[in-house]
Amino acid sequence: IPGCGSSSSKEDIAPEYQTICEEYKDVSPKYVFSYAENQAKDYPTSLGAIRFAYLVHQKSKGRIQIRVYTDSELGDEPDLVRELTRGGLDFIRASMSGLTEYNSEANVLVMPYLYKDADHMWKVLDGDIGQEIMDSFEGTGMVPLSWYDAGVRNFYSSEPVHTLEDISGKVIRIQESDIMEDIITDLGAVPYPTMFDEVYSALQTGRVDMAENNLSSYESMEHYKVAPYYIVDEHTRIPELQLISQTTYDKLTDEEKEIITSSAQESALYERELWKEREEVSRKRVIEGGCEIIYLSDNEKERFRKVIEGVYSKYCGDYMDLIERIQKY
Ligand code: GCU
Repeated sequence: IPGCGSSSSKEDIAPEYQTICEEYKDVSPKYVFSYAENQAKDYPTSLGAIRFAYLVHQKSKGRIQIRVYTDSELGDEPDLVRELTRGGLDFIRASMSGLTEYNSEANVLVMPYLYKDADHMWKVLDGDIGQEIMDSFEGTGMVPLSWYDAGVRNFYSSEPVHTLEDISGKVIRIQESDIMEDIITDLGAVPYPTMFDEVYSALQTGRVDMAENNLSSYESMEHYKVAPYYIVDEHTRIPELQLISQTTYDKLTDEEKEIITSSAQESALYERELWKEREEVSRKRVIEGGCEIIYLSDNEKERFRKVIEGVYSKYCGDYMDLIERIQKY
């Protein structure tokens, strides 16, 4: 069913999406666009993508169809970003850490312990600073459309961790990111960049001792089954972007651009709601699965923060004003 998700089987798609597709099934589309996701089909960002496709299909009365490919079907995140910049893909949803390579201002949003809490982050992203950061993608070959929630990232491990010393010398899976490499090294551990869909086997075979991600990814990818200690240190809160390729964007009329941007905004609000629900479901699932969630003491979190604060001057030297504005927001 074009425009309504990754699946070719009708049964896999929620009835509301089927209905709308039926409505416009005889319209021959002007465009059939691709949208790539590396998360599972039932994950909040994927459901947000499907909602986006549905909204665009509906608002364009079937003229713009978007096929959503989930589960890394079209490739790993770094490849998807590269393809997007070249116009080989029309849309993706990507973690901010994979975008810093193309836009150094994006480094700011990957900095550890940047916000007080989630509310603080959303005030920043929904305000003028969020817009400024979106604008800073000009010239990269991609155009940001909306911010998606990805919670807060924590470590997880096959053994309990209560102090900084407990992670010393441990091999920790990270995304392909220079900033994360430095953070892990500063913590006294060994960074090991690995693609997202290979983390489970890296943990299972003992190639890595630990990894780090938000609770819902930890649950959805079943990492909790091979690393049963989830350590709440809240080192980064990395938002995600829905992006369109510049090549695709430039083809659109003003009216089509409006349909795309308004649908992206609406789908983002939907995703944020789903995110909150999924975090709770994930929490229950991992606890029922026998995991232990360990909350680091404030004192210990402060020790983590202190040893990694060097990344601010190393990666954000040109953006210290922006960081100050974020912290004061
Ligand atoms: C999160 C994010 C993914 C990313 C992953 C990772 O789960 O949503 O897009 O690939 O982190 O750690 O690689």
